[in-house]
Amino acid sequence: MTQRPKHPRSALITGASAGIGRALAERLASRGTDVVLVARRAELLDEVRAGIERSGGRARVLALDVSRPDEVVEAIAALDRELPLDMVVANAGIGGSIAASDMTWAKVAPVLQINVMGAISTLCAALPGMIARGRGHVVGVSSLAGIRGLPKTAPYSASKAALSTFLESLAIDLEETGVFVTDVRPGYVKTDLTAGRTYKMPGLMELADAIDIITRGLDDGARVVAFPKRLAAALGATRALPIAAYAKLARRVISR
Ligand SMILES: NC(=O)c1ccc[n+]([C@@H]2O[C@H](COP(=O)([O-])OP(=O)(O)OC[C@H]3O[C@@H](n4cnc5c(N)ncnc54)[C@H](OP(=O)(O)O)[C@@H]3O)[C@@H](O)[C@H]2O)c1
Repeated sequence: MTQRPKHPRSALITGASAGIGRALAERLASRGTDVVLVARRAELLDEVRAGIERSGGRARVLALDVSRPDEVVEAIAALDRELPLDMVVANAGIGGSIAASDMTWAKVAPVLQINVMGAISTLCAALPGMIARGRGHVVGVSSLAGIRGLPKTAPYSASKAALSTFLESLAIDLEETGVFVTDVRPGYVKTDLTAGRTYKMPGLMELADAIDIITRGLDDGARVVAFPKRLAAALGATRALPIAAYAKLARRVISR
């Protein structure tokens, strides 16, 4: 039976300089978790750390570019030896629409490098310590966009499908180890990632509401936290559709 630390004593969160990662780090810190803030913009991480400390919490900064997986593994593994991690949240990610006519490798590569290599190297770095201690919570922030290939989002949808599939396999393999796995699949949330987008974003959600849902899911030990529920259910239902019917529906409903 997997034991999950309900209130993690320590958590490392990537993408903690902004958006979901920052708000989640602040929420965890407000509940007593010692948080490690990871992103590239060290000055923003310092601001987040200072805010957490002013509120009585504990935080430290680890400036890293997750698109360099070897450095990620080395830095997080070293940190885990000093501060054994109860939770790791692979959240750092980039989005963006790319039409097929504009599909250059230069545009595709960073999406895969950050969202797939960055996220999976983050999780791999923390796993050995957690397994050895028989305790841990591995969290990936994927997306509803990984459920099916969305129009004009091929690299992003593919990157999130890869992360979700990785987490699904991992959850099976980690049964009985004491290390628990959660796949967080948000819909549209108001952050820098969605700011300025002109296309329709059904169910667009306030950041604080998203963080409420995510922390509740983590507390409850949910294997998948997919939200908002109606959008998640609708996208889930399309998995039963054959590709031709799905493509027709996707073109009609999701206009970008
Ligand atoms: N917002 C949504 O609607 C939505 C929906 C579904 C899924 N998601 C997923 O949620 C996660 C967070 O998104 P968000 O909306 O909070 O985005 P955001 O506000 O744009 O924040 C992205 C975070 O990722 C970090 N990051 C990006 N590239 C990085 C790199 N190479 N190395 C280290 N950190 C990097 C950024 O920090 P630096 O720039 O300082 O490095 C920033 O802290 C992403 O994985 C995204 O795909 C978001």
